[in-house]
Amino acid sequence: MTAQLIDGKAVAAQVHERVRVAVAARVAAGHRAPALATVLVGADPASEVYVRNKRLTCEKVGIRSVPNHLEATTSEAQLLAIVDRLNDDDSIDGILVQLPLPKHINADKVIERIRPDKDVDGFHPYNFGRLAQKTPTLRPCTPWGCVELLKSTGVPLSGKRALVIGQSNIVGRPMALELLLLGCTVTVAHSRTRDLPEEVGRAEILVVGTGIPDMVKGDWVRESAIVIDVGINRLPSGKLCGDVEFEAACQRAAFITPVPGGVGPMTVAMLMDNTLNAAIARAGG
Ligand code: GUN
Repeated sequence: MTAQLIDGKAVAAQVHERVRVAVAARVAAGHRAPALATVLVGADPASEVYVRNKRLTCEKVGIRSVPNHLEATTSEAQLLAIVDRLNDDDSIDGILVQLPLPKHINADKVIERIRPDKDVDGFHPYNFGRLAQKTPTLRPCTPWGCVELLKSTGVPLSGKRALVIGQSNIVGRPMALELLLLGCTVTVAHSRTRDLPEEVGRAEILVVGTGIPDMVKGDWVRESAIVIDVGINRLPSGKLCGDVEFEAACQRAAFITPVPGGVGPMTVAMLMDNTLNAAIARAGG
């Protein structure tokens, strides 16, 4: 079998268009455009690229983007004060603090300071808890984007055996909760999992977010599986690669996301959707 590619750019473009039309309709009805405040601390080159992408996509869909670029030496107290200001600013609907933060800042404390109704990353314990309790509000963008990609295959997902590799707060844990909501039987594998190849071999849906280049070998993959590769790793050659051995996995999977052009564009697209939804909810629906 040669896997069919899941085109994240195309699915993301559909989400952008849906958000653009909804934003235009709100503005035509007399509402102000939704507004997203981005907060970047320091000059990590990858984070700068991610935040720029988020801001450019805002422009494309009609969301006002409000940048806050802070020195790497910004203290935790200063950052918390900026979050407080954005929390209190009624013209701001969404707050995105780009991670990772410099080591002297406690990221959990910053995330918990963001008002849950402006937490467009879906990382606040309130929003995370809502997802865990099957009543999702603002949902973490990357796992939610993976759900859109899974749905785009047209394959019925309910009842499928799903494996998530990685248990991070940004990807693995919320992904497992999303898959449960879809009716999958979910296993989460991590660094202490015994016999990972055996677990992978059972999975009809495989979602990998470990940040380890090519850690899942193609010949572990179950025939006809759907493979979602969340990894974006830069090799010493400069080439980008995922967490799954792509060419070999293509020989076994039914559907697979490429890297780049798979999950990456979906994270930004779902952030736009979250910002629109936050603006609608904050305006009273
Ligand atoms: N760093 C890596 N992924 C993300 C994300 O989805 N949101 C934020 N804020 N930071 C990240």
